This record gives sequence, structure tokens and C-alpha cells, in this order.
Amino acid sequence: MRKIVIAGNWKMHKTQAESLEFLQALLPHLTETSDDREVVLCAPFTALSALSKSLHGSLIRVGAQNIHWEDQGAYTGEISGAMLTELGVRYVVVGHSERRQYFGETDETVNLRLKAAQKHGLIPILCVGETKQQRDAGETEAVISRQIEQDLVGVDQQQLVIAYEPIWAIGTGDTCESSEANRVIGLIRSQLKNPQVSIQYGGSVKPDNIDEIMAQPEIDGALVGGASLQPEGFARIVNFQ
Ligand code: 13P
Repeated sequence: MRKIVIAGNWKMHKTQAESLEFLQALLPHLTETSDDREVVLCAPFTALSALSKSLHGSLIRVGAQNIHWEDQGAYTGEISGAMLTELGVRYVVVGHSERRQYFGETDETVNLRLKAAQKHGLIPILCVGETKQQRDAGETEAVISRQIEQDLVGVDQQQLVIAYEPIWAIGTGDTCESSEANRVIGLIRSQLKNPQVSIQYGGSVKPDNIDEIMAQPEIDGALVGGASLQPEGFARIVNFQ
């Protein structure tokens, strides 16, 4: 059975205090949430410890937004697997398009980070997706295929979540048609050794489109940016029908 995973990616939003305020507002909305779904909050490093402590015993899992492939060393500004697991982190976003675009992440470094996450018992959420230019040039399938092939070399597909995030749909309000997201996610699945991997859609997911997205047969969850910052809206997404 493929697991449903709804994850918020807060990106560079929320101080520790703001994160705890968010939780207080979110939790009352999740008392009736079905336990068929995993809820994850991928927060900035500085909020992970406080979130973990407050979520102890709850169904919500804590996620980070990056991990370095070495266990330690002279890598200013990076974070290791042990530093994350010590804080109770269970998931980690790897290869987000913003990391690829602004911080020089390549398929090679994404692959190293994925393997490091798994070595430390973390479940990586691998992000893949095409730019608008690539889509318009008819290259979507080739781009996604290449990312999946190169990013997953030597990666255990039993401990993995993938997020299909078309870059042109991120933060633009321009959601990918749910049937098209379903089609691309089906293509990704056909390339996997383990077809049971949970594959999320990400890109302008909102309370008013989540039901339609989750009704698609290939889509196993969502990776939510902007709409995960507001507790009521995020709760509505988690409680999709
Ligand atoms: P938005 O939901 O703000 O479009 O962001 C999507 C995203 O990048 C999640 O990782």
C-alpha cells in the first residue's frame, strides 16, 4: 500500500516562536484526521528542536530542508545527518528546485545527499521538476527521466518519497492541471524499481485544489509551500476529502 504523505515546506519562513504558535493553532484541527496519512512539517533548522519536543507523541513528523553528505567536516553552513536525527527529524527535503537553481545543487550532489539521508535513517523527499522553458520545448519527460535516473543511483527505494514539482507551478498560483500531474507522476513511477514509492505533487497546492489533486490515482500526497504557512489552510489540505 502506498502511503499518503502531506508535507509542508516552510522554506525560509518562521522563527522558533512563530513555529510553536503555528502548531498551537494547527493541532486542534487535526484531532479527527484520518491515520491513513502522514503529516510532515519541513521547517528551518532553527525551529526543528522546538517542533520535535512539542510534537512528541503526535502523528506529525518533523522534516528538514537539506542535509550534507559528509558526517562532519569543513563545510561552512551545511548540516549533517546526525545533527538532524539528534533533534528527532524523520524526513528531509533533497534537491528542491530552489536549491538546484540558487545554490548550485546538481543531480550528483542531490544523489549524495539522498544516500546520506538514508544512511542516517531519514526518509528523503526527492524533488524533481521541469522549468517552463523545458515544458514549452517538449522536454518535460526527458528532464524528469534524467533527474530520476541520475538522482536515484544507489538509493534505496524502500525509504523514499518523491515530489513532482513543476518549477513553473511553484509559488505562482499556476497549478499544474491535476490530470497532467497525474500523468507525469505515472511516468516517474514507471521508471522506479519499487512502484510503491509515495509520489507527491507540489506547486501552488491550496485548500481549494487539494481534493481534486488527491483524487488522482497516481498522486500520493502533496508538498505544500506557501499554503503550509497558515494553520487553518494547511489543516484543510491535510484533511483533504
Ligand atoms: P508553493 O506551494 O508555494 O507553490 O511551493 C511549492 C514548493 O516549492 C514546495 O516545496
